[in-house]
Amino acid sequence: MPDPHRQTKSKYTADRNIPGAFEGETITRRRLMNLWANGVGGVAAAAFTLPALGFALAPIFKRQAWTWQPIGTTADFPASTYMTKVITLIPGIGEAGNSIAYVRKRDPAIDKEHEDQYNQFIALSSRCMHLGCPVRYVSAAERFICPCHGGVYDFRGMVAGGPPVRPLDRFYTRVNNGLVEIGPRYSVNNELQRFSPRFPGEPIDGVGQFLYPAQFDTAQKP
Ligand code: FES
Repeated sequence: MPDPHRQTKSKYTADRNIPGAFEGETITRRRLMNLWANGVGGVAAAAFTLPALGFALAPIFKRQAWTWQPIGTTADFPASTYMTKVITLIPGIGEAGNSIAYVRKRDPAIDKEHEDQYNQFIALSSRCMHLGCPVRYVSAAERFICPCHGGVYDFRGMVAGGPPVRPLDRFYTRVNNGLVEIGPRYSVNNELQRFSPRFPGEPIDGVGQFLYPAQFDTAQKP
């Protein structure tokens, strides 16, 4: 039962004896200003945070396009040294989308990692696994040298010195009608086990593979 002693408050500010109230006004000017200030503040905050959030989250959902690119015949690649090949990583943007891969024939005497149809030719990425500078193969020393902070990799792309956190990334390769084709990039740990691509500076041995999860990618890989 409603309490007969309880009085319902009028919705008009004038009836509630609020100083400065106007006839027919239902909201105080102080409250109106508060609502307006909060609304403008919310819009301004969203204008700053939404683009930043989108910028941070977009790469997670990026779909990486890739194709099998022919880079030469099987006879073009010896096992004793690397051949330098320009490949297209991001099509449609000209030279900016190109990169260099170092390619040689697999040598069973030194390439002890698991063998399958995708590593009969070893293709190493030229991106340093410290901060991403391009490494250069020095055939006399059988080393890959990074000019930025002195990173050194051995003949197989394993870290031999300096700050890089993992071996050089690799590319899938395959032989198709006598041609060597290069496919998508993958990362490797110190046992040369394959992982989906990680960014430079992200170690993937031990807990590193969980601390630096794979980039989200829906593209079908070999
Ligand atoms: S980027 Fe190669 S050592 Fe730093």
